[in-house]
Amino acid sequence: MRVAVIGCGFFAQNHLNGWRDLAAEGIELAAVCDIDPKKAETAAKTFGVPRFYTEAGAMLAEEQIDFVDIVTQMDTHLEMVKLACAKGVDIILQKPLAPEWSAAREVVDTARKAGVRLTIHENFRYQSPMRKLKSVLDSGAIGKPTWARIAFRTGYDIYAVQPYLHQAKRFAILDVGIHMLDLARFFLGEVERVSCEAQCRNPENVGEDTATILMRHRSGAVSVVEVTMEARIDPDPFPETLVTIEGDHGAASVGPGLAARITSGGQTRAEDFGSPLLSWTSQPWHTVQESVLRTEEAIIRAWRAGKDPESTGDDNLKTYALVEAAYEAAREGRAIVPAVN
Ligand SMILES: NC(=O)c1ccc[n+]([C@@H]2O[C@H](COP(=O)([O-])OP(=O)(O)OC[C@H]3O[C@@H](n4cnc5c(N)ncnc54)[C@H](O)[C@@H]3O)[C@@H](O)[C@H]2O)c1
Repeated sequence: MRVAVIGCGFFAQNHLNGWRDLAAEGIELAAVCDIDPKKAETAAKTFGVPRFYTEAGAMLAEEQIDFVDIVTQMDTHLEMVKLACAKGVDIILQKPLAPEWSAAREVVDTARKAGVRLTIHENFRYQSPMRKLKSVLDSGAIGKPTWARIAFRTGYDIYAVQPYLHQAKRFAILDVGIHMLDLARFFLGEVERVSCEAQCRNPENVGEDTATILMRHRSGAVSVVEVTMEARIDPDPFPETLVTIEGDHGAASVGPGLAARITSGGQTRAEDFGSPLLSWTSQPWHTVQESVLRTEEAIIRAWRAGKDPESTGDDNLKTYALVEAAYEAAREGRAIVPAVN
């Protein structure tokens, strides 16, 4: 399968490494594109890609590819998706779908009308510790999950590599909270209502940098989703997602250092849920980096088997609906029913 990557910035390096690792599974990096010629050229040289472009339309006109991998920022997603749909190629799109709900829906509708497969690169549910935790739940070891806390709390200087985040009008919930909300769906299922308190604790930030979200799931379970880039905790677990899930006859948690504890039938066992280091991953980012490869691998395997990957555009709209509900809940000071669930 031939892939072209659009956007060769900070996070795309992980996508490119992932595709290179998947050469063994028949993936060929056909071309890369970035409006910044230096970034496009450097990516082509680094990853042995035969051609690079500075204009996505030109690349799509020239190249024979099976799918595009869009790793630009969200304000360009709709435009890039329209180009790929005009060419009739399948699409992998980085989160978030778009800056706001109407555009997110348009992205999904555009792909549906064009008859192309759209999958969102939602990688947090593919992190090794999250996958292992899900298999504990699926094994029935803790019984029916009834309560969860899913937390991304850090003070790590993420602004060094993503300076645009200082200016984001919608920041913590849309940028990282979206992953936590997706994990809440992954572990506990769809959501009935959402409450949220949002704060801006760093005056250099335009948008909210902290959110505390409370959700009632359809199953009756309750989850607390916490996200902040302004924690002052030591040790700082960046970029680990820490999770506690309680069930009706046990509990499972992933704590700092990705140390897991599973209580089942009155017995507690400790396990290491850490991710392996790959040749191109390095701490502290390795858990996130490895999940990029796992996400790509899962999408390709599903497509090849003629199945839908987990995070189709339609599925990811349900996560995006939680983002919207959280903003509305914070604004209005009341619980909100998500627009799709
Ligand atoms: N899933 C995760 O864990 C994770 C982590 C970080 C970032 N992201 C997401 O990745 C995406 C990119 O973020 P980033 O930090 O790499 O941003 P970035 O600004 O470093 O990279 C984006 C690149 O896209 C290029 N670009 C912009 N418009 C373009 C166009 N029309 N055609 C071709 N190239 C274009 C820019 O020149 C830039 O090099 C965002 O959607 C962000 O939310 C995801």
